[in-house]
Amino acid sequence: MRHIRFLRETDRDDILEIAKHTWEGHDYLPYSFESWLKDKNSHTAAIEQDGHVIALANLRVIEDGKTGWMEGLRVHPDHRGMGLAKALTNHVVQNAAELRLERIRYTTATDNLESLRLGESVGMSRRFNLGVYWHEKPDEILWRYSTEDIASIEADELIPSLLESELLPLGIIVLDWKAMDAAPDALKKLGQTARFWVTRRNDVLNAFSLGFSRMAAGGPQWIFTIYAMDDALFLNHLSHHVAMASENECNTLFGAFHEHYTRVLKGLDWVSSEYDGDWALTLLERVL
Ligand SMILES: CC(C)(COP(=O)(O)OP(=O)(O)OC[C@H]1O[C@@H](n2cnc3c(N)ncnc32)[C@H](O)[C@@H]1OP(=O)(O)O)[C@@H](O)C(=O)NCCC(=O)NCCS
Repeated sequence: MRHIRFLRETDRDDILEIAKHTWEGHDYLPYSFESWLKDKNSHTAAIEQDGHVIALANLRVIEDGKTGWMEGLRVHPDHRGMGLAKALTNHVVQNAAELRLERIRYTTATDNLESLRLGESVGMSRRFNLGVYWHEKPDEILWRYSTEDIASIEADELIPSLLESELLPLGIIVLDWKAMDAAPDALKKLGQTARFWVTRRNDVLNAFSLGFSRMAAGGPQWIFTIYAMDDALFLNHLSHHVAMASENECNTLFGAFHEHYTRVLKGLDWVSSEYDGDWALTLLERVL
């Protein structure tokens, strides 16, 4: 059986080496690794061979100890297909059970068959998909669509109407590949990094979106998620986030939305011809 240990500051070079080979160098690992080491709620796991880390993962306890968030599962390309990811996934699930967490969750790209298979092999089930889209140089997108008012809103004001609305699948908010129940405390915490916007018609909340700028491999990236009741509301909020990306001088735009809006997105003339509407993320969960 493989020995699994915690990550250390001295593993930095090995982690950067793995990240370099993941998603063409667009891995978020170099930006999260330091915070995992400092975070008492992060339970890192690493496999070492010949003095180098070759595989890693993190279990982050969130939502007041309720959820174990699985993230950062990576195996160096030279060591894939040998069961290392399986060993780490089993370890993380066992760790979550020992910590008496209520559930474990993670998101992955819907076409990441290995990752889905790994999750399902430890009893996790697919809960829902969201469409995703990313675009470089958002400042070059001149398209705007503004037919309805979009208001900025604080977490406190948002809570009752968002929870009553049927905008969120299973009452879960996703932002930047992470997910949490839309509970008052979680929204307040999220509001420390992200901003929230809504559109109301006749006092009913019909669209909600959130976004923030963060550092990524290619420079600052604008990240957003849109929950909207119809095409027009989706386009209004999309246009708003394109503008926010420009305003915040972001080099890329990355967003998630209900899967059926891929059809609307594909019809926009600035959207990449490589986008076939199949890009999506999946949330997986196991109740422990
Ligand atoms: C996904 C990843 C972690 C898998 O690591 P790995 O060590 O090669 O995986 P394992 O050898 O433990 O195999 C895990 C499972 O995936 C299956 N698998 C391997 N390659 C596969 C493929 N191309 N298609 C479908 N399943 C595949 C294996 O059969 C195994 O399932 P099994 O035990 O039921 O047979 C690795 O490819 C990686 O680091 N990818 C880049 C980052 C990433 O995608 N991380 C996960 C999502 S956040």
